[in-house]
Amino acid sequence: MQHRALTAAVAALLAASSAAAQAPQQKPTPPPVPTLAEKITPSKDFPKGTATPSAECGACHQAIHREYAGGFGSDMRYPGQTLRAKGDPVLQLPAGTSVSASAHAAAGVDPWPVHAREAEEEGKKCNVCHFPQPFSIPDRATAEIAKPAPRAEAQGEGITCAACHLGTDGRIRGPHAVQAPHQTVADERMQSSEMCAYCHAMGKRVAGKQTQTYLEWREDFFKPGLGKQQCQDCHMPRTLRKVAEDGAGPVRAVARHLWTGGHSGQRLGSALSMVLVQPRADRSDVELHLVNVGAGHSVPTGSNRRGIWLVARALDAKGEQVASREWLIAPWYGPRPDDRAFLKEDAARPDRIAATQADEQGPHEAPIRAGEERVLTWAPDVEGGSYTVEAVMTYDLNRYNDRGFQGDQREISRATLPVQVKAR
Ligand code: HEC
Ligand code: HEC
Ligand code: HEC
Ligand code: HEC
Ligand code: HEC
Repeated sequence: MQHRALTAAVAALLAASSAAAQAPQQKPTPPPVPTLAEKITPSKDFPKGTATPSAECGACHQAIHREYAGGFGSDMRYPGQTLRAKGDPVLQLPAGTSVSASAHAAAGVDPWPVHAREAEEEGKKCNVCHFPQPFSIPDRATAEIAKPAPRAEAQGEGITCAACHLGTDGRIRGPHAVQAPHQTVADERMQSSEMCAYCHAMGKRVAGKQTQTYLEWREDFFKPGLGKQQCQDCHMPRTLRKVAEDGAGPVRAVARHLWTGGHSGQRLGSALSMVLVQPRADRSDVELHLVNVGAGHSVPTGSNRRGIWLVARALDAKGEQVASREWLIAPWYGPRPDDRAFLKEDAARPDRIAATQADEQGPHEAPIRAGEERVLTWAPDVEGGSYTVEAVMTYDLNRYNDRGFQGDQREISRATLPVQVKAR
């Protein structure tokens, strides 16, 4: 049934296409300055705008849709999520959704962000990036990143194909000038990080804070010359294929629509390297060096819910634990370090639930910036003898729920070091 409806939509599109195909192709336009209340021209081809079901685009762009909706080529996993306490219901993706779908495809069906609105924002509609209207791509030099405009009711799927591809002028933007059965506009900024800025950053640059990914990339990675890679170069690896299977265009390098991130072991495993050293022979002091070698931004990045637990343990010759130490590395909720000292102040804030949730966990390490080497030191209090120091890093999708709930945690690195300690 659904297939038949699609075919009708596609036929209508194809009929409208010959006129569009004759129109001369547009040159890339200079970057517009983003404004909050943008004028949005309804799309001739896609009257439902950014709420257009992605499967409608997938009828012609089949391989891209398979990646977006099914995750073909990724190792994404959605383990189910709990909000806070042990025993809270585990929020699962609905039946029929691929458990390896891209996070953008899951955005409209993942129950966690929906419930987070209730749990953290007292039901206030805050998911503007999760259900956006068409937006224009911001200028690279923008000091402050505005939020996209939210869709009103009937939000439907979250980050649809149209959410990224439909411009405020009602046309479909892509990196190339092509002949398509819908109106298109070539915009080379589709291959630049600015394309992701609107939803992957908010406000001004504050190192350490959440919702900074684009700004971390721009200020810490791209500007100082650590790398030339745009977000797409790491998060949308390319392959050779036709853009639309039945289209007239050639086979060429096309970006895979996967966006692996915090739900991918492959992605997380490539971000940080960990090295343990004993700087002074015979003493128990150990240095843990965490080096951001793989990410074009801080680790962890994005939402303040993310965190990396680093647990170090000293084991004696029999393998028994004799000492341990733990760190949490995570983005701050607001523009200053999370700290229990602010709990009283939080109670009077309009965002008190979310602010309190962050401050209750107490002070922690800030995220490790692009290219940074973070050195943590630990001197386990042990007698003379032979020990092994073992350190394990675990990525936690939701650092606020019970640590005993391990469904949303993933070990990302492990290192050991034999240590000789002289008797005191
Ligand atoms: C999160 C934003 C986003 C979403 C969602 C998205 N795309 Fe894209 N798409 C991009 C970007 C960015 C590029 C350009 C990537 C590059 O070449 O570096 C692109 C490229 C393309 C291209 C051109 C390929 C080429 O290289 O010529 C097509 C066609 C396309 N997308 C279709 C789709 C379809 C169909 C969907 C839904 C199944 C979709 N996109 C969902 C961001 C998105
Ligand atoms: C319209 C807003 C929007 C745009 C534009 C957008 N994203 Fe996203 N992105 C989101 C949201 C919202 C999520 C989280 C969805 C969820 O988990 O419910 C997300 C998730 C992700 C994730 C996965 C995080 C995880 O938890 O697994 C990656 C990686 C990512 N985006 C990269 C990109 C890149 C690269 C671009 C630019 C090509 C981009 N996004 C453009 C809104 C956007
Ligand atoms: C009726 C089939 C059909 C449908 C439906 C369709 N497209 Fe296309 N699209 C095409 C064809 C054909 C091309 C040109 C491909 C080529 O050059 O080979 C194209 C081109 C594009 C491009 C430009 C690619 C580039 O290289 O810059 C983008 C982006 C795109 N489509 C996105 C979408 C999105 C998003 C949707 C849904 C909202 C959609 N398309 C729906 C057939 C379709
Ligand atoms: C040099 C490669 C590289 C570049 C460039 C890069 N990333 Fe990443 N990205 C990574 C790695 C590695 C991770 C996993 C570690 C982490 O979560 O920080 C990651 C993780 C992410 C996540 C997952 C966060 C989560 O909560 O699940 C998002 C979202 C993301 N990147 C978006 C972006 C955006 C947007 C850009 C461009 C502004 C970008 N990335 C540029 C490598 C890169
Ligand atoms: C500026 C854009 C933006 C706004 C505004 C926003 N989000 Fe998000 N949200 C994202 C992105 C991007 C991600 C993907 C993870 C990341 O980058 O950390 C995300 C991820 C999430 C996640 C984790 C989902 C997962 O798959 O693990 C939850 C929960 C969430 N958001 C809830 C909310 C709530 C509640 C609000 C309102 C206070 C909100 N978001 C407002 C962009 C936004």
